[in-house]
Amino acid sequence: MNGNVRAARASAPAKVILLGEHAVVYGFPAIAVPVSSLRVFAEVKPNSLPDRELRITGAGLELYSVPSSVSEQADDALAYTVRLFTQMMSVPPPNVTITIDSHIPIAGGLGSGAAVTAALGRALALASDISLPDHLLNDLVYEVEKMHHGTPSGIDNTVIVYERPIYFTRSAGYDLLTIGTPFLLLIADTGEKSLTRTAVADVRRLREASPNRTEKVLSAIGDLVTQARQAIESGDPQKLGSLMTENHELLCELTVSSRQLDILVKAARQAGAWGAKLSGGGRGGNMIALVPFDLEDAVRQALYDAGAVRVFRTVIESGLN
Ligand code: PMV
Repeated sequence: MNGNVRAARASAPAKVILLGEHAVVYGFPAIAVPVSSLRVFAEVKPNSLPDRELRITGAGLELYSVPSSVSEQADDALAYTVRLFTQMMSVPPPNVTITIDSHIPIAGGLGSGAAVTAALGRALALASDISLPDHLLNDLVYEVEKMHHGTPSGIDNTVIVYERPIYFTRSAGYDLLTIGTPFLLLIADTGEKSLTRTAVADVRRLREASPNRTEKVLSAIGDLVTQARQAIESGDPQKLGSLMTENHELLCELTVSSRQLDILVKAARQAGAWGAKLSGGGRGGNMIALVPFDLEDAVRQALYDAGAVRVFRTVIESGLN
């Protein structure tokens, strides 16, 4: 595309973890689904001057420094993405401007960092006129995730790159899930920003301080995930909801909930949700509620009344998400 660059646009979705966060770091399974309505876009435009270098711009990327000119800075996620891409694909940085436009709230457990990297990787491939297979993009996003998280399990990059509901373990990777019956999730933002890296480090310390107790909780979460897979595949959202609520209680034991997350979980359940839990790193960020379709408005209102700063919806269906 260098030299003959046409405008093009790449994108990647947000995600939520349905069950199994934190335990997945220690080898237990987890289930994650994409949120296709919430996306990061990366717009590629040709540079008018032939000797202009790659530029990456964007608003609302508070967690990332957005250099006017990508350099070799190792601590910059965007620059690191470009460097990995050029090394992996053996191409020079393309002579284009890429504008990143993220609609995913940051630091909220919705995978904004991984989605920015995935959209940028796809934009770089478009601009370089080469194909970047999903498995390579997945490797690239995982490497950049290490900058954000320290020891990521790999679930975020995988669900975001493949954009399908997945059952994931560190050792075996992912299985695509079939969805027995479509189900509705409401995703409510506490407005409290939290860094996954901190929550993951605290669980690690807890596990070191009380190994037996913590291992029991992590393993109990793993059991819920196994049952949840069956509930999803056989189309039993009511059962799935109650497993999610049990998972929330175990996450509280791991100390990764927050007062506001607990308030929203309770409000959703009282308004008729089949189940609710925090999603992602915790300590703030977003919670999810599995809601009967006819109670969507009531649960959404209850979440706002309980202090949610915004509520998103997504329907999980086979093949479409
Ligand atoms: O990026 P988040 O906040 O959705 O958290 C990812 C899930 C964790 O299990 C907490 C961490 C990981 O790497 O799997």
